[in-house]
Amino acid sequence: MDLLEAIRTRKSIRLFKSDPVSREQIEEILQLAIRAPSAINLQPWEFYIVMGEEKARLSRRLVKLYREKQISCSPGNVKPLSAEFNKRGVESFILMNPYLEKMGMDFNRFINEGSCNFYGAPTAVIMCLDNAFSEARLVDIGIALGYFVLVAHNFGLSTCPIGLINAYEDDIKEILNIPDNKNVVIGLALGYRDDSAPINEFTSPRDDVNNFVHWID
Ligand SMILES: Cc1cc2nc3c(=O)[nH]c(=O)nc-3n(C[C@H](O)[C@H](O)[C@H](O)COP(=O)(O)O)c2cc1C
Repeated sequence: MDLLEAIRTRKSIRLFKSDPVSREQIEEILQLAIRAPSAINLQPWEFYIVMGEEKARLSRRLVKLYREKQISCSPGNVKPLSAEFNKRGVESFILMNPYLEKMGMDFNRFINEGSCNFYGAPTAVIMCLDNAFSEARLVDIGIALGYFVLVAHNFGLSTCPIGLINAYEDDIKEILNIPDNKNVVIGLALGYRDDSAPINEFTSPRDDVNNFVHWID
């Protein structure tokens, strides 16, 4: 697939088939994802690839934790958001909800429990950063995530980044035996999209690029 076509057509998928993704296929994606640039070529990313019964166990535990603690997807803001950011958040709900209604699903339950279940994907990827690094190195993880989702898409696989799992970081580290000195940065659902699911027809919009750019000349 042409790079620009991959960028134009990639989107987050929120219902997966149970068909497994092979280790070889995941290795191929990783080989390309780690071509991402990083500061001083430190390559600070770490990937925990959770598959098979271990992935099912992780999902079960996370969904249970969500039901107990009710920590939901949120923008993660530390100050009140401006009207334009709030508008985009509300729009996400308004635009996605009709697809979920077609499936008879409640938005909050679908997104929160779905995220904890990696939307039924057979593979969960947990990206970590050693806690020796400052927050500056989160940029490097983000770039590798961007490469990962595009490379996966190129191979006919789909993804959904899952930030919600950060709320359950301590539990995830315990469940997966991730060492104390690693921070969980982001999760990712990886698998084959279920084309029969109405939610996967949804494509998120983008604002006009002029809303983001400041020309200084
Ligand atoms: C850092 C990050 C965290 C995200 N966390 C979640 C999540 O927990 N649950 C979810 O359903 N989608 C999550 N997403 C997916 C976004 O909702 C999605 O990327 C956005 O709505 C744009 O849609 P698109 O990826 O289809 O272009 C996350 C995306 C990013 C980059």
